[in-house]
Amino acid sequence: MKLKVGLTFDDVLLVPGYSQVLPKDVDTKTIFSRNIPLNIPLISAAMDTVTESRMAIEIARLGGIGVIHKNMSIERQVMEVKKVKRAESWIIYDPVTVFEDTTLGELKKVIEEHRISGVLVVDKDGKLKGIVTGRDIIFEEDDRIKVKELMVKLDSLVVFKIKGDPKEITLSKAKEILKKYKVEKLPLIDENGVLKGLITARDILKKLAHPFETVDSMGRLRVAGAVGVDSTSIDRALEMEKVGVDAIVIDTAHAHTKKVMEITKKLRKKLKNADLVVGNVASEEAVKDLSKLEPDAIKVGIGPGSICTTRVVAGVGVPQLTAIMECSRAARRLKIPIIADGGIRYSGDITKALAAGADSVMIGNLFAGTEESPGDTILLEGRRYKTYRGMGSIEAMKKGSADRYFQEEEKKLVPEGIEGIVPYRGYVRDVVYQLIGGVKLGMGYCGARNIKELRKKSRFIQITQSGIRESHPHDIHITKEAPNYEGFKR
Ligand code: XMP
Repeated sequence: MKLKVGLTFDDVLLVPGYSQVLPKDVDTKTIFSRNIPLNIPLISAAMDTVTESRMAIEIARLGGIGVIHKNMSIERQVMEVKKVKRAESWIIYDPVTVFEDTTLGELKKVIEEHRISGVLVVDKDGKLKGIVTGRDIIFEEDDRIKVKELMVKLDSLVVFKIKGDPKEITLSKAKEILKKYKVEKLPLIDENGVLKGLITARDILKKLAHPFETVDSMGRLRVAGAVGVDSTSIDRALEMEKVGVDAIVIDTAHAHTKKVMEITKKLRKKLKNADLVVGNVASEEAVKDLSKLEPDAIKVGIGPGSICTTRVVAGVGVPQLTAIMECSRAARRLKIPIIADGGIRYSGDITKALAAGADSVMIGNLFAGTEESPGDTILLEGRRYKTYRGMGSIEAMKKGSADRYFQEEEKKLVPEGIEGIVPYRGYVRDVVYQLIGGVKLGMGYCGARNIKELRKKSRFIQITQSGIRESHPHDIHITKEAPNYEGFKR
């Protein structure tokens, strides 16, 4: 029997080609799924040590997208999606509100839960009555006191009247009003005084600072939400869609299965607005079969992840570069975007994944160490770390991800992942800057102005163990760490 050879990132390099392209002129635009364009090809993984709202907000601001993990109740996942959708539209369409008889104790909880500096006060008909901000409650100690005693009343507020749609106000007009009256919040009300939206100085500043962000047609940051294949999957997806999730990702370890294909079929019928992404697969046949169910993107990767033990425990998988090449061969013909999921250790791996045919890459490990991932930093022998674990690790499966590995009914679990710590890497924007910087350099070397050209122009060369050793720094004791190189990783 002649066996195929499976290659991964370390087995190849891209051969430099004639180039007239400077890295700074490279365009990294791509797509996540059929209806979701991105400015950078990076996605944060649906893992409980990687993506909740804080990570998803930051990744979307930078031009990628985050997938909120599903190891939580439906209500909490919906809340995480809501937080992203509310984070940075410069017009907030459904601002958080309280009533005049809300107590200070209740108000404090609202402020903490939504991490906001002020709350609008409305009556039962939604008419604006006032605003209460941190300043109004700073020295107030009696939690029973009512909001109406604390708020700044409507007649002292600067508001903007609209006829119908909050979009009637332009960004420059809003900026002008905030500047003129030296206020930080501008509520939008209709002719009857009903609250229709809110503009804050903070959101305008953020909008101006992030020209590449991934936003929907209403200017809200985009976000995806993961579902599995347990009994809650359909409800989970539909509840997230109700609050505006942009894509539902059916996140499983093996999507080329009857069970996952049935859920994909059902969700395809039920979802009205959100894109549908399904994974993971690692073969051309799987892409062909799944494409018949018309998903908006397919995710590729069986066993490449840094925390995965599937390949050693089950003896199954396909080295990631070959998996991407095979899957994207079918996907190109069928016009389905491909997400390369797992195994990215250096920025060069991303360039290779894109050149091999992926439209974007999903990252767990490199983002798990950032400030924005869930969990605290750990201090160990003078260095900072954050926890990172596989969704197939025992603890993660106990928290709800057993169905990803089709083990939700098992009493004793067989893990396909491990738990550990990764170096603390600071803010995700700095990590992304280095990753995209590396990709741009790679594209410059290949003479590719954009990702499409990279795919067309690039030529891979297979290398040997000696080639790998030569590629990494050698014959030197590193005395100063570079922000994009943490040493030789196996
Ligand atoms: P990296 O390499 O970025 O990979 O850490 C993240 C991806 O790995 C997948 N994943 C797992 N695969 N067992 C597995 O076989 C696991 O426990 C596990 N947890 C996550 C997932 O696709 C993720 O995006």
